[in-house]
Amino acid sequence: MLGSTLARWLAAALSALAVLALASAARTASAEYGDVVINNYSDAAGMRPVVFPHWFHRIRFRCKVCHADLGFEFKAGGNEIDMVKIIDGQFCGACHNGELAWAVDNCNLCHAGLPGTPTQVHESTLQKLVGPPPASGAGANRTVSATQPAQSGGGQ
Ligand code: HEC
Ligand code: HEC
Ligand code: HEC
Repeated sequence: MLGSTLARWLAAALSALAVLALASAARTASAEYGDVVINNYSDAAGMRPVVFPHWFHRIRFRCKVCHADLGFEFKAGGNEIDMVKIIDGQFCGACHNGELAWAVDNCNLCHAGLPGTPTQVHESTLQKLVGPPPASGAGANRTVSATQPAQSGGGQ
């Protein structure tokens, strides 16, 4: 656990870095399919909302690593995450420590959302991947794509 002096120092250092981060936030970034946008505190703190690419992580780690061992609740925005905790090795900081994954000084890689984007799961998997079964015989040039909304059967 961090001493309170260290925690205060970190808070001060972070707000200084936040200014730098904003100044260099030129790259265009927005949430993509399957991402979780986390914005309990970021907007209010003058940072871009965090975009957590769930699929990117899910294909690399078992659910249990994050949702049991690291204690992430199964709910977008359901964890009270702040930078002191992250730097202390909790939540994202269990891996983004410069050893298992790139370190916390890459502010803009996490704080990549468009300002004002609320906490949400950006496009649920069910919306995109679960559609009616393909009509048999009519599928010669049908392609399966996660980026195209499935056609609704509409009860015809
Ligand atoms: C590994 C991902 C990650 C990186 C890198 C990262 N953050 Fe964060 N940060 C988060 C998450 C997640 C939250 C919680 C977001 C929310 O609820 O709004 C957060 C919240 C914050 C907050 C609001 C809460 C608080 O602690 O005051 C500030 C300010 C902040 N980050 C600044 C920074 C700065 C400055 C950097 C670079 C030095 C940085 N962050 C790097 C993930 C990251
Ligand atoms: C690298 C860490 C990590 C792994 C691995 C991971 N998750 Fe998550 N998951 C998260 C985070 C972070 C959130 C968002 C929490 C927040 O916003 O505070 C989340 C949110 C969720 C949610 C709620 C949002 C939604 O999509 O409806 C569900 C459900 C979920 N995860 C299921 C899973 C399942 C199932 C697996 C394994 C196939 C998995 N997660 C693997 C970190 C992870
Ligand atoms: C269980 C370990 C683990 C946890 C927890 C974790 N990450 Fe990651 N993350 C990784 C690894 C490993 C990479 C790949 C690093 C690399 O390519 O060098 C990565 C990459 C990323 C990327 C870049 C994805 C891309 O397309 O290149 C982002 C953004 C990111 N993490 C954000 C977060 C945020 C935000 C959190 C907390 C909500 C978090 N991560 C928690 C392990 C983790």
